[in-house]
Amino acid sequence: MSPQPQAAVGAPLSRVDGRLKVTGKALYAAEHDVDGVVYAAIVDSGIGRGRITSIDTRAALAHPGVLRVISHRDAPKLPYRDNAGSNNPPGRRLRVFQDDRVLFHGQPVAVVVATTLQAAQHGASLVEVGYDAERSSTDLREAEADEPTRYARGDAEAALRSAAVRMDLTYRTARNHHNPMEPHAAIARWSGPRLTVWDKTQWVVGTQNELAAVFGIPAQAVRVISPFVGGAFGSGLRCWPHVVVAALAARVMARPVKVVLSRRQMYFGTGFRPSYEYRLRLGSDRRGRLTAMAHEMDAETSSYEKFTETIMPAGQMLYSMPNVSQAYRTVPLDVNTPLWMRGPGFATASFVIESAMDELAHQLGLDPIELRRRNEPAEDESNGLPFSTRRLRECYTVGAREFGWDRRRPEPRSRREGDWLIGMGMAAGLYETQRNTAQARARLNADGTATVEAAASDMGPGTYTSQTQVAADALGLTMGAVTFRLGDSLFPPTPPHGGSMTMASVGSAVLDGCDQVRQQAIKLAVEDRRSPLYGAAAQDVVVRDGRMHVKDDPARGETYRQLLARNNRTHLEALGSFSRPSGAERHSYYAYNATFAEVAVDATLGLVRVRRMLGVYDAGRIISPKLAHSQAIGGIVGGIGTALLEHTVTDHRDGRIVNANLADYLVPVNADVPDIKTIYLDGEDREADPLGVKGLGELVHIGVAPAIANAVFNATGRRIRELPITAEALL
Ligand code: MOS
Repeated sequence: MSPQPQAAVGAPLSRVDGRLKVTGKALYAAEHDVDGVVYAAIVDSGIGRGRITSIDTRAALAHPGVLRVISHRDAPKLPYRDNAGSNNPPGRRLRVFQDDRVLFHGQPVAVVVATTLQAAQHGASLVEVGYDAERSSTDLREAEADEPTRYARGDAEAALRSAAVRMDLTYRTARNHHNPMEPHAAIARWSGPRLTVWDKTQWVVGTQNELAAVFGIPAQAVRVISPFVGGAFGSGLRCWPHVVVAALAARVMARPVKVVLSRRQMYFGTGFRPSYEYRLRLGSDRRGRLTAMAHEMDAETSSYEKFTETIMPAGQMLYSMPNVSQAYRTVPLDVNTPLWMRGPGFATASFVIESAMDELAHQLGLDPIELRRRNEPAEDESNGLPFSTRRLRECYTVGAREFGWDRRRPEPRSRREGDWLIGMGMAAGLYETQRNTAQARARLNADGTATVEAAASDMGPGTYTSQTQVAADALGLTMGAVTFRLGDSLFPPTPPHGGSMTMASVGSAVLDGCDQVRQQAIKLAVEDRRSPLYGAAAQDVVVRDGRMHVKDDPARGETYRQLLARNNRTHLEALGSFSRPSGAERHSYYAYNATFAEVAVDATLGLVRVRRMLGVYDAGRIISPKLAHSQAIGGIVGGIGTALLEHTVTDHRDGRIVNANLADYLVPVNADVPDIKTIYLDGEDREADPLGVKGLGELVHIGVAPAIANAVFNATGRRIRELPITAEALL
């Protein structure tokens, strides 16, 4: 096949759904207009652990508009079948209103259904719940850990004992909450045995499977619709209890029910990035060649599910060294279950490893980039596989040049402007290139337009736009002629919209489906005696603006419309698919970055201001440069949050989250966001997937926090090993 001309892919296009969003026509979960809907407000547990002893609903029921209060006392028993087709971690998931147990502060204990939202909310405040409270355990440092997951190569302990340079460092990272702009919400409606749910989710298929399992009905009986997601950062990767509440209440009421979590409820109604205590010991020779690292990682999970994330690979393969040991332990606490958030695992590992590398560079008197160059591996030392592509050295070179790294003074506290100490720091980041089985349906219509459908999501990165770009070029159509539809479980299945795998997975399926349709059309033309293309070699035909022509003879051709009309075809259609090659991987697939930060720290007040940031990314092919830049800005802003602001605080006396609101849980605002530059290295990763992409969403967040921490050290001489870095810590 002649390669299709690439007109849309690689072009800095604006979002195809931008107008819908700014005119309010993009409908988010709670905005769908469902006839006869009633409103539900969840009553949260006021204790951190124990039993419900009484529920007094009289005042609530007396309130005008309140229709019903549902709790474990009268809720239908639900089968809660096991579910392999979900993101549920191992364990026994929280069962909504199935018993009197309270497992964490904020757990749903009842729901008030009313004719208006106001009546439901007020009704919820009138429900009196009595408890038999037990002591809850929410402190990572006090509780007992599970058995560790281990990794080892060589003998890290022996190598550490004999290392010329040794460091033993303990890091702590705060719990973070996703805090998307749009609150989580669901509307559920039953039609006989069939359930339809409008949900905020990053995975309509996962939510479909989970609701089917919870209610003991076939997956085909559940439809999940989620065309727009107002940010999620991972929080939409699971079907949370409130979605079950909506479906359960809709069943009890025999009416559609809407549940919207309040901002406060988002702190325990959905997951969070778990807090870590992370000890890293490292050894090197005097020239900075690493000899060993020993990692001990303790992370929060809930008492009822064991949530884990990919915290371990970075320590195994980011740098070359013969000896590595790792022990990763989860610590069950009386909290709700954590979930992946912005660069999960890797962001935390990168903060620790990249902070430690900066400390080592300082101790050895080496430039931090030079230290990293000395430890570049030739292959993935965790499995002996060659890298598909790894251009971290180039990221360093380009980044150092563009950021003006040569202006950095290695001696901390050596640059001052009035009250402000100025410093520069950098860090490496990496994220695995994930890709997974996906399908997409492509349909070329008689009018020369096309519709492409997949059960994917768009939580903000611009899936609608980037998939349209892929489809447009593969079909040889303009962007305007292609409609990409997503967010409906009736569409062909896709993996979760997370782990930065959407373009590699769904995009490859879209490419396949559109390639098939284009080839069907070309075959039809070259075999059609009435076509100007009759007798041409199919592989010599390309399509541009909906017109097929012989590549080297553009005059010889015809349009899709002409072809389909003459052949009385209403459409051509194909189901595209992508699956990862079966069997063992042949390469080690990762995307990389070098992230640079310049900070100013008020010498007397300890305030940190990020002045400039640069990210240089080895992310494979960039489908949509404008979206990719936007993605990187978002990732860096999120990284500034993790580095300097975001911290979910728990009162360990009763497990209550103290700052469950956006006034006290700090996120970066415009005034916190500096001049941000982003550079994507040109190129593609031909080994990773048919599109040559390596994933962006996580990568752009990872490495930001350590770059800032290292800049703070360069500015002040203070090494802060705890996130967020606060003014208090710097005083
Ligand atoms: Mo991302 S944390 O996988 O939504």
